[in-house]
Amino acid sequence: MSLKRRQFLLFLGAAAGTTAVGTLAQPLVRAAKGSNINSANVLNATTLPASVPAKNATLAATDAMAFEPLKGPMPYEAVKISAEQQPTDYAQYTIQDDIVLPEGFTYDVIAAWGDPVGDSRFGYNNDYLSFVPTGPDEGYLTVNFEYVSTKTWEQTFPTVIGKPLPSAAVLKALEATENKVDAFLLADDDPLKAQIEEISKEALIDQGLGVIFVQRGADGQWARAENVSDRRITGISGLEDGRYLKSTGPATAVFTKTIVNGYSDGLGDKIVGTFGNCAGGTTPWGTVLSAEENFQDQVPEAVHRDGSAFSPSAKEFDQGFDGQGNVLGLAGNKYGWIVEVDPSNPQDYGTKHTWLGRYRHEAVGVRAEAGQQLAFYSGCDRRGGHLYKFVSTGTVNDPTDKTNSALLVDGMLYAAKFEADGTGQWLPLNPDTPVNPVLPSTVAGGMVPLPQRPEGGFAKVTDDAVASSFKAKFATLGDLYDGSAVEKQGAILIDAHYAANAAGATMTARPEDTDVAKDGTLFIAFTSGTPGGDGGPDSSIFVGPNGEDEYEAGWIMKLSETDNDPAALTFDWAMVANGGEPSDGGLGFANPDNLEFDAQGNLWVVTDMSTSSHNKAVPKRLDDAGQALGGKDLLGLYGNNSLWQIVLNGDNAGEAKMFAYGPMECELTGPFFTADGSTLFIAAQHPGETNGIRQAMATDIREFSLQTTAGQTFIQTRQVPLGSNWPEKSETSVPKPSVVAIRRIAGGSIS
Ligand code: FEO
Ligand code: CA
Ligand code: CA
Repeated sequence: MSLKRRQFLLFLGAAAGTTAVGTLAQPLVRAAKGSNINSANVLNATTLPASVPAKNATLAATDAMAFEPLKGPMPYEAVKISAEQQPTDYAQYTIQDDIVLPEGFTYDVIAAWGDPVGDSRFGYNNDYLSFVPTGPDEGYLTVNFEYVSTKTWEQTFPTVIGKPLPSAAVLKALEATENKVDAFLLADDDPLKAQIEEISKEALIDQGLGVIFVQRGADGQWARAENVSDRRITGISGLEDGRYLKSTGPATAVFTKTIVNGYSDGLGDKIVGTFGNCAGGTTPWGTVLSAEENFQDQVPEAVHRDGSAFSPSAKEFDQGFDGQGNVLGLAGNKYGWIVEVDPSNPQDYGTKHTWLGRYRHEAVGVRAEAGQQLAFYSGCDRRGGHLYKFVSTGTVNDPTDKTNSALLVDGMLYAAKFEADGTGQWLPLNPDTPVNPVLPSTVAGGMVPLPQRPEGGFAKVTDDAVASSFKAKFATLGDLYDGSAVEKQGAILIDAHYAANAAGATMTARPEDTDVAKDGTLFIAFTSGTPGGDGGPDSSIFVGPNGEDEYEAGWIMKLSETDNDPAALTFDWAMVANGGEPSDGGLGFANPDNLEFDAQGNLWVVTDMSTSSHNKAVPKRLDDAGQALGGKDLLGLYGNNSLWQIVLNGDNAGEAKMFAYGPMECELTGPFFTADGSTLFIAAQHPGETNGIRQAMATDIREFSLQTTAGQTFIQTRQVPLGSNWPEKSETSVPKPSVVAIRRIAGGSIS
């Protein structure tokens, strides 16, 4: 037993004497800069959801359905190999191009890119999954399709979709114009315009969301069953088929204006398509929420003072096949929203609820309790992005009532301001909110983007004096936006990220998933503390386990509303887990992303290390100047992206166990348990993203300077497949993003 583990058990024992298991979570330990908090001693009994049974009962259930943790490429404690033995046992490691599971588990492929769905096809890069049951063994599986991985998508498109793309001709033509072109302004009879339109439409068809009906057979296997509700909502829905998406809330007052500062598509409150659909949420009334994330890759993000879009020309089509909205003249202010869809209604092609704000939405954490206002939590996944909460004006009567969707039409959007002492407040994003921007010197990277006036858009502010003069010039958010009261509110919601920066919301470390435990505690995955061109996190809040600045491996935070009230304007927060190497205070994974709770209240976490870092050799831990490597330079140690269970209760509380890793160059996304816990739906996104089709079982051999759980350095020789043949796994198979159902071969609960 390591020192940290002993400390943790001591801590748990001490806490048990003063804190009832299962009571409302309150941060016992607060993360402050340099506080040397590590994962072992911040996980504590108070993280338990209130509905979790008494300790002994939980233990029995957990023990009965335990799984043997997967031996990943990096040593960690739950794999019972002593630190002394690890250099020998981990000296060689072979990565497999597959979803690799503990013994006794298997998976069934349910759907793959290109499969027929309704009058369209299963899209690319499946992300969020939502299972809404219609019976014990059947239901609607709603799937997000986030983006196309250009190189591999283009390489495999003719084989999978059965027709060529004019990509070679377009790439050749773009060479003459610095590898990009404003296709919006090309003449209609220019053949290049038609070719770019064809590529853009195919890429947008492969994004959006889809509904498929699935059933479990007597053998336990899940498979699709054709259903009248099977359908696709794509990036071009409405463009040619009249199936526009709808919109609600104050931004519709901007969409329907006839005279605007910038660009209007002339469609009023109707919207063409949805794209960049990353993670999401599922309501207790059976609708699915789909989060539009990196919309700025396809359309301009910046808007004018009245909330109107910049011209489509502001985001040109380029050689990476970004700027897909350019040739189609899409209005940028109509993307970056949350879409609500009722999977059971074949006529529903989605509604964008603008009270939830426009930013790079990762997901939605839903809190709907009888007699309370509705609270939806969502993070903006960019470096320096904020955590937001929407609170409805009305209250929920019956959480399962489908009319609850109407509560999304009126309320208020808030952005979180965290204090280093473990408290925080929600800042309303309305015209009366004072302008009070954070100072650039307080964030990693030293830059805060603020609304640029009078031009519109934003300016990157690096000087504290400039931020202070901005505050002196504009008293309230209403001074930054134009229009009637409702139009100003609409413009603030459209420009939510920059309005929140002006209001002084905390810049954070790329918030990914937001998931609400049964007791109302919010868990948030902050995936990376490294700053970048969009900004960086607050240096006093986002601190590594040993006091590190710009900590790359990420955190999981819990947030408890004051008095456990969903509408509270203040909260407490604490970091409950750190990514990172076990000997440095991490749990053995890096870059946490999607979260999911199992029936026992354990937290499941998938990782999203960027593909270029996967298995990148780390032959030594010092650079050429003799400085210790850190941050992204060490991500190769962790191997492929993976899925972990963090045990929150019972004898093994505080332990992280790897349950799966994914095929080569992929991200596992969308974990979703059936209510009985016997099936875990999960998606593998972008297999083969770097190297495309794995050719003739190509394999590289690389060296990694790993650390034992006690901190001793040793070398591992690792076999790394190049590219992917998943899911079909023959030597010539093309890699296809696909959705699977994981289950025990012998049946029963997964955990
Ligand atoms: Fe699409 Fe933030 O993950
Ligand atoms: Ca994600
Ligand atoms: Ca991600």
